[in-house]
Amino acid sequence: MFVLGIESTAHTFGAGIVDDQGRILADARDMFKPPAGWGIKPQDAAAHHREAGGRLVQQAMEDARLRAADLDAIAFSQGAGLPPCLRVGLEAGRSLAAQAGKPLIPVCHQVAHLEIARLQTRLQDPVILYVSGGNTQVISHLAGRYRVFGETQDVGVGNALDKFGRAAALAFPAGPEIERLASRGSYSELPYVVKGMDLSFSGILTAALQKLRHGAPLADLCCSLQETFFAMLTEVTERALAHVGKEEVILTGGVAANQRLCQMLDTMCRERGARFLPCPLRYCGDNGAMIAWNGMQQLQAGNLPAPSLEIRPRLRTDDVDVAWL
Ligand code: ATP
Ligand code: FE2
Repeated sequence: MFVLGIESTAHTFGAGIVDDQGRILADARDMFKPPAGWGIKPQDAAAHHREAGGRLVQQAMEDARLRAADLDAIAFSQGAGLPPCLRVGLEAGRSLAAQAGKPLIPVCHQVAHLEIARLQTRLQDPVILYVSGGNTQVISHLAGRYRVFGETQDVGVGNALDKFGRAAALAFPAGPEIERLASRGSYSELPYVVKGMDLSFSGILTAALQKLRHGAPLADLCCSLQETFFAMLTEVTERALAHVGKEEVILTGGVAANQRLCQMLDTMCRERGARFLPCPLRYCGDNGAMIAWNGMQQLQAGNLPAPSLEIRPRLRTDDVDVAWL
């Protein structure tokens, strides 16, 4: 069986194809890049997706050496995401499904991130730390759904790093440069903000920016930010592990590139006798293959798509019934 998946929630348009063994046969993608210094305007990203979508779907079909009639279903990213971008994905999905005469399956973008990370690491029942620009969540499967055990109360950890980077005139995104600088800095104290299972980064960011203005060495601030943010993430992940009694941790999202974060999580897991694996970086960011894979999981579980499908810009991870586990 083959499923083609379409991703279009934010800056990336992706078209991926998987088979029923979880092999990725195609993974075509292209990212909308706003002019330097600008955020994404939803309408501009949607225009990019409309322009690039047809070519990327065609490329995916060529890479997988398939024809439309070979597909068993089309999956699309239903949400969460930017409405104009989501609409492009829905339209593309509808027209491909009609062309192939096959069902159109809606996929929750966040759940697809979790499932591709499980597929890639082969860990079965993990606690997942999902840390990207906009997202910071500690998630695990419990009683039929992916439950969010802890999350940021303000910005995502990646955005917090990027905001610091902008103030310090580092290149965007700032995470990689902050990691390089941190390796030659030394720690000086910053506030540490964990509230129950939730985290807050903006007050720490403000404190770091103040120190920057008062002339604290940049490398020391990078080191202190990393140590503080990642210790908070590791603490909440450990508490989730203990709470749900699981023995596996997966790290995913763009911040998973950070070796210091990987090291802290690895140490914590070793001390508890748990396994830790980061998702391979290629599948930490947005892509069509993850949408195809969750579409395949739903198809195999016999999930019937709703007769009328709409986008769901505010879809939450725990809104989704996980019928395939
Ligand atoms: P979303 O909008 O879904 O939250 P995104 O596109 O902003 O996602 P990703 O591409 O998953 O996010 O991740 C980008 C983030 O990862 C940026 O904030 C960037 O600074 C951060 N990042 C990348 N490399 C590193 C690194 N080595 N260390 C820390 N952060 C990093
Ligand atoms: Fe994403």
